[in-house]
Amino acid sequence: MSDRPTDDRTTATNGAPAASDEHSLTVGTDGPIVLHDHYLIEQMAGFNREKIPERQPHAKGGGAFGRFEVTGDVSAYTKAGLFQPGAETKMLARFSTVAGELGSPDTWRDPRGFALRFYTDEGNYDMVGNNTPVFFIRDPMKFQNFIRSQKRRADNNLRDHDMQWDFWTLSPESAHQVTWLMGDRGIPRSWRHMNGYSSHTYQWVNAAGERFWVKYHFHTDQGVEHFTQHEGDQMTAIDTDYHIRDLWEHVASGEHPSWTLHVQVMPYADAKDYRFNPFDLTKVWPHADYPLIEVGRMTLDRNPSNYFTEIEEAAFAPSNLVPGIGISPDKMLLGRMFSYADAHRARLGINYPEIPVNRPHVEVRSYLKDGAGRHHNPGDPVYTPNSAGGAYADGAALPAERGWESDGEMVRSAYTAHAEDDDFVQAGTLVREVMDDAARGRLVDNIVGHLLNGVSDPVLERAFAYWRSVDADLGAAVESGVHEKADLMDPKADAQGNDARRSAQKKA
Ligand code: HEM
Repeated sequence: MSDRPTDDRTTATNGAPAASDEHSLTVGTDGPIVLHDHYLIEQMAGFNREKIPERQPHAKGGGAFGRFEVTGDVSAYTKAGLFQPGAETKMLARFSTVAGELGSPDTWRDPRGFALRFYTDEGNYDMVGNNTPVFFIRDPMKFQNFIRSQKRRADNNLRDHDMQWDFWTLSPESAHQVTWLMGDRGIPRSWRHMNGYSSHTYQWVNAAGERFWVKYHFHTDQGVEHFTQHEGDQMTAIDTDYHIRDLWEHVASGEHPSWTLHVQVMPYADAKDYRFNPFDLTKVWPHADYPLIEVGRMTLDRNPSNYFTEIEEAAFAPSNLVPGIGISPDKMLLGRMFSYADAHRARLGINYPEIPVNRPHVEVRSYLKDGAGRHHNPGDPVYTPNSAGGAYADGAALPAERGWESDGEMVRSAYTAHAEDDDFVQAGTLVREVMDDAARGRLVDNIVGHLLNGVSDPVLERAFAYWRSVDADLGAAVESGVHEKADLMDPKADAQGNDARRSAQKKA
């Protein structure tokens, strides 16, 4: 009998003391292990079931808890409690890469996920955005194929730049986001040094029932900083978990990172005749048309105490909305209304909302019942309508506020055309008017480096045309950059075309 306190003792999962953590129960010292050593079996069975499926996209990430404090007054646009003057709301943030699996390097070129959960008095509100204000596609039908093109081939299980550029150049609506990705924002110095965006347009509704269209911008108070491709490659070789470590260490040391939330607000009626489709996820709204309005500040001040239960089991969903905040006719957002909860049911089980990190900080009154992993026991009645005084749905709490007018035949088509819809215009503006010469130079280098990594001749030709459509000078610089670098690396390039580039790669 040990003289250590009894609450130091290991127990089996039933709470009773375990006999040993070192020796299995055997028949004689060298004898066979007996089946009734249920404690050994519990250890082995638990270990064998430790892993759960990783998220399909956005598998690698990290996060921290914090608070959101309102500093502005947007009550004219939304009645949502968390955005009312003076409100402070507990929250969780998870940042991630998109294409890499669990264990992949934090510093690969990729968009970064920027998923926020607000534990509001009116239920959980999730804002599941990225560090870019636009996206690669505008129809959810293409999302699954897009992600597959970024992941691994079927035959050798390798990632393949040829299939990435094949998809992008066959999907010209990707140009704006690919320009962001190949530019400086493609490798943030740390998660603390990047902005977050809703990207989508959402709907806000005020206390009088008036509707507005909004886009969210979380601007980092640490300043936007990036790694060059070379710095990113070096960091990948040194520390694959650099971004997780950076966030953890700053939160732990009290250097709490913060972001200021601004919104752009578009009056409801403007959407119909705006010069381009304001619900198109590949477009930003010019600030000159819809200036930024300050809302508040989010600060991350507490690290998770258990990565698995608080970050890996966190289940964010754009469909987690609260009164005063709704969705818009953005088809991608409409697709996401289904996809996330479905992914969580597959990854975490039907009762995933009961996992503590997912549990709202308000009472849940639902007639959903039982299922694997169920803890919550609301009792009777188990059906509605009932005459036993059970909970009832109050239509007045959520009037037709989340809607918009819609009419027409069922079709599969692009959006209704607006005067200035175009796949390349905003990408060109980003290159010419937002980037300076140095940033444009790095953009060309990044594109050239990416294209020299196994992209086949027909796809290369399409890529040159794609960049020429973004900006003539950029296209010319990319094309000559690819040829020059390949020639430099292999003198026989002229004669051998892309084969030379491949051998140049091998030498590199
Ligand atoms: C994660 C689907 C577009 C941001 C995911 C997951 C799925 C998914 C299935 C994994 C969820 C999980 O297992 O927890 C889709 C579909 C899209 C779409 C079907 C389009 C139709 C977008 C867009 C953004 C975005 C446009 C950003 C604006 C994220 C983020 C995560 C994520 C940040 C990680 C959430 C976390 O940290 O747990 N997406 N996605 N997704 N997606 Fe999307």
